[in-house]
Amino acid sequence: MDKIAINGGKPLSGEIVISGMKNAAVAILLANIMVEGECIIENLPDISDVNRSLEILSAMGAKVEHITKNSVKIDSTNIVPCSAPDDLVKKMRASYYVLGAELARFGRSTVACPGGCDFGVRPIDQHIKGFEALGATVSVTNNHIVAVTTGGVIGDSVFMDVVSVGATINIMLAAVKAKGVTVIENAAREPHIVDTANFLNACGAKISGAGTDVIKITGVPTLHGVTYAIIPDMIEAGTFMVLAASTHGKLKISNVIPKHLESISAKLVEMGADVVEEDDSVTVSRSGELSPITVKTHPYPGFPTDMNPQMCTLMCLAGGKSRMIEGVWDNRFRYVEELKRMGASIEVDDKVATIDGDPQKLVGANVRAIDLRAGAAMVIAGLSAKGHTEIEDIFHIQRGYEDIIGKLQKVGADIQIITV
Ligand code: EPU
Repeated sequence: MDKIAINGGKPLSGEIVISGMKNAAVAILLANIMVEGECIIENLPDISDVNRSLEILSAMGAKVEHITKNSVKIDSTNIVPCSAPDDLVKKMRASYYVLGAELARFGRSTVACPGGCDFGVRPIDQHIKGFEALGATVSVTNNHIVAVTTGGVIGDSVFMDVVSVGATINIMLAAVKAKGVTVIENAAREPHIVDTANFLNACGAKISGAGTDVIKITGVPTLHGVTYAIIPDMIEAGTFMVLAASTHGKLKISNVIPKHLESISAKLVEMGADVVEEDDSVTVSRSGELSPITVKTHPYPGFPTDMNPQMCTLMCLAGGKSRMIEGVWDNRFRYVEELKRMGASIEVDDKVATIDGDPQKLVGANVRAIDLRAGAAMVIAGLSAKGHTEIEDIFHIQRGYEDIIGKLQKVGADIQIITV
């Protein structure tokens, strides 16, 4: 089993180039199921969730060919419906996009119940509600979701009861080739929803309003191949922004869209860090002490839940009481026990964590990556703490961060992978 070993306490400085966004990449790759033609997808992050998405496409009969480490050619013309392998689907949450894409192309879909990080209950009722509104009959039997239509998807209005990224994208996928017009109301507004819509529009879809809470999709009969580059990963960028502040360092984080990072920048500035935005970079540094703050996570454009563990780690280093309020997931604080092993004082009451911070609080320890972002938080904690840290279960981190070790070594981190 591989572990990450860190000798912490060094300020990091230099430039980190951000990779393509995981959550846009997985949606756009699986949206290829709907395209009868050849697409070239660029700026793909080299991470295991992307590789699993490509394996799903290959197993379903698509031709998949890597051009470089970060670009791939996909031809889904000969995809076989309802053939996504259970073992691959169960390893990744985003495999639920096979449902929307297959419904659009074939009018039917069967997919095993998807896996992913464990944040408590992760229902898909809003996906199902949307598919049913578009004329599908959906059942869940033997851990498989089965959706069928008679003669294809029919456009209609869908009002989402919960703001859901996955359901918004999935309903949008299902509606792209529908007969008539679909309107998704109370839609999520995340940048990866806009990126997926932009990709589909480049293929010939007619989607407007992505990035607002009302998305309109006018069905088209076919989609054609394109060359498309994925947007930068705002959560990878945010993770390194926090790291600059936590290590007293100075990091230029480049290949980003600063607008996507505004909620993170604002909270870092409130804590006492300096954030300088340029066209496609942000530079984060910190010279003085950190101040305690309160953060509540929200759907975009609010502070992202996928930055909760990293920000909470920074709060451990701010003298005084901070609060992290989780506004999206039921059970996002499982990582707190790991931070406590490193000396953190954190009390969790349901969805609120109260952090009693101190600049000297964290010390190196043996910890686990409980999930993807919790793992990133352990890297931040290890690099910010005095002493030696070893992180187990690093496969979680490798699901979403391209070459995190190489990127960090380049800015002066004492970090490596050890095989035990
Ligand atoms: N929800 C429902 N019913 C549904 C769907 C969602 O009640 O049918 C609830 C969830 O329980 C949750 C909230 O709605 O309380 C938001 O869930 P959402 O559907 O937005 O999450 P998701 O699409 O499954 C994506 C990201 C997650 C990220 C969330 C929230 C992907 C592949 N995953 O998940 O990313 O935490 O949005 O922003 O896009 C990560 O990258 O580490 C990660 C976990």
